[in-house]
Amino acid sequence: MRSGEQPAVDVTVVVPTFNERGNVAELVRRAAAALAGRRAEILFVDDSNDGTDDEIARVASDAPIPVRMIHRDRPTAGLGGAVVEGFRAARSDVCVVMDGDLQHPPEKIPEIVDRLAEGDVDIVPGSRYVGGGSATGLADASRHLVSRASTLVTHAMFPVRLRQVTDPMTGFFGVDRTRIDLATLKPRGFKILLEILVRSPLRVAEVPFEFADRFAGASKASFRQGLHFIQQLALLRFGKMSGFALIGALGAVANVAIVWLLTEAHVEYIVAAVIAAEVTIVANFLAAEHWVFRDMRENARGFWRRFVSSFVFNNVESAIRIPIMVLLVERLGMSSAVATAITLAVAFLVRFTFHSLVVYAPRKERARSAAEQDQPARDRAV
Ligand code: GDD
Ligand code: MN
Repeated sequence: MRSGEQPAVDVTVVVPTFNERGNVAELVRRAAAALAGRRAEILFVDDSNDGTDDEIARVASDAPIPVRMIHRDRPTAGLGGAVVEGFRAARSDVCVVMDGDLQHPPEKIPEIVDRLAEGDVDIVPGSRYVGGGSATGLADASRHLVSRASTLVTHAMFPVRLRQVTDPMTGFFGVDRTRIDLATLKPRGFKILLEILVRSPLRVAEVPFEFADRFAGASKASFRQGLHFIQQLALLRFGKMSGFALIGALGAVANVAIVWLLTEAHVEYIVAAVIAAEVTIVANFLAAEHWVFRDMRENARGFWRRFVSSFVFNNVESAIRIPIMVLLVERLGMSSAVATAITLAVAFLVRFTFHSLVVYAPRKERARSAAEQDQPARDRAV
């Protein structure tokens, strides 16, 4: 570690580490090579207990560019908290955040920095899902599925903010730290980029990258991180999704009431149930149009097309939910209450995702985003 007066730098590479001893030397070697000729520093924010900090000190002592470390004895807020501390301590406003296991190729750093330097965007995420990017380094098929599904749900929850972001879950990005209000971030767990994108109105441009295999050591992703993520989503988004949920809940109550009224009036039970279901499907659609997706209507397809796609979806969804429930109860021996709860919860998420991404999808994506880029940054709050 160097001491005393530090030269100013143009780029700080912020690397959160938790037990990454075997990766430090290789990461510094590749990052320093990629940054040759630039004024750059590498800043590790380390929460390890396996001697990674000693290894960082050793590597720093003869590294070709300045290497600093913040070692946290009492880590708070995990990976996300570490990144925020890195932003605070960086010697430059331009920060590039990168994992410490070489799944993010350091050779991409200059491209990210140069894209930021063009000055028309505030944040440049590396994306695995844009032309030329790839996610082959994800451990197995189930991680792929989790990554894809969580990206889809996240897009559904923030359809406007994340419109230009194909990979909000990536941990590889460059940002001008003066454009984010560090005090408003509530980092918890792994998804700091998402936190930043949703809380600050930023102009975004992605660069593709190939998510590589880990160089050494083991992943720290865990079921607990998954729970953190769900909690983070819920905290970030109690707008659209909760409105949609509330309307769904009121619809369910209305459904029961209509069935009751009709059967009281001697309408046949099955007929009453069908009428009640269709009435609430239509009413729910109108309510969501008005209260939840109002800001997205203007750019979406016409009213009747929205109505038909929503109506067909809801009918298909009800038609398949019941047999799936029967299957869960009869084949898997689940109690009918649990099966109902699970199918309703999944159906809710699928329905919300469908409405947010399909029913209210913007009509002319390309023309629109091109027009948007001509305009200065503005709050596109959703
Ligand atoms: N300081 C600190 N504190 N660093 C941490 C902590 C922590 O509590 N937990 C994990 N890290 C560091 C790891 O040491 C590694 O450098 C980086 O954060 C990512 O952790 P991995 O264990 O490699 O997790 P991953 O490969 O599953 O997750 C990566 O890929 C995701 C996309 O699939 C991360 O980049 C995520 O941010 C990314 O979303
Ligand atoms: Mn990793």
